[in-house]
Amino acid sequence: MQKQQELYRGKAKTVFHTDDENKLILHFRNDTSAFDGEKIEQLDRKGEVNNKFNHFIMSKLEEAGIKTQVESLISDTESLVKKLDMIPVECVVRNFAAGSMCRRLGVEEGIELSPPTFEFFLKNDALHDPMVNEYHIESFGWADQAQIAEMKRLTFSVNKVLSELFDKGGMLLVDFKLEFGVDVNGDIVLGDEFTPDGCRLWDKETRKKLDKDRFRQGLGSVVESYIEVASRIGLTL
Ligand code: TMP
Ligand code: ASP
Repeated sequence: MQKQQELYRGKAKTVFHTDDENKLILHFRNDTSAFDGEKIEQLDRKGEVNNKFNHFIMSKLEEAGIKTQVESLISDTESLVKKLDMIPVECVVRNFAAGSMCRRLGVEEGIELSPPTFEFFLKNDALHDPMVNEYHIESFGWADQAQIAEMKRLTFSVNKVLSELFDKGGMLLVDFKLEFGVDVNGDIVLGDEFTPDGCRLWDKETRKKLDKDRFRQGLGSVVESYIEVASRIGLTL
């Protein structure tokens, strides 16, 4: 597979074309961003850790019957993926209240949400990823009703598979964000990444934060925590 010109540079990953028009390369950089790019730092080994973490999680999801963009690991920091036409919304499931939900609704961090709740956000840093509803998504043509239903169904399936996986490692999957795209067959496929950059994970007993909140809140040991999370679910990095 021949890496070709850059297609898109995000805050933490760069996407490259390849000599196969249906395949792309995702390069996970060490850049770590929070607050919509307001705080950016380079963290040693983070690109490698997230690339391998993402591949591991996506393989678990594939085993559970959830289609993902990932094809294979091609280097420490790069993965080969299927090209998708990305839908510009973020799908968030929350099992416990944290982050923007606490600020928005004035609820206490850590309360269990039963049943888990679902939110859509528009992917737009300049607007600080505003929350949107299904009518917005349909009216602006970002996705149709069937695609919206499928994104919700798949996000809840991912929640079930991964809540169990992290539970076995003594962790709570507090919340997470997924992004989907449409493949060449017109099917909705899980794209982007699942890493501790895009979810919240707490130790079940102590509720110690093990995810990107360590970076957002200046708690230190960010990549070390990601490596600990990986080892607790059976991935040695
Ligand atoms: P929030 O509490 O800031 O709304 O985030 C909810 C979850 O989604 C949290 O695990 C972080 C993740 N997330 C991202 O990864 N990127 C984003 O741009 C947003 C808004 C959330
Ligand atoms: N992913 C967003 C950013 O990089 C939001 C966040 O994680 O705080 O800025």
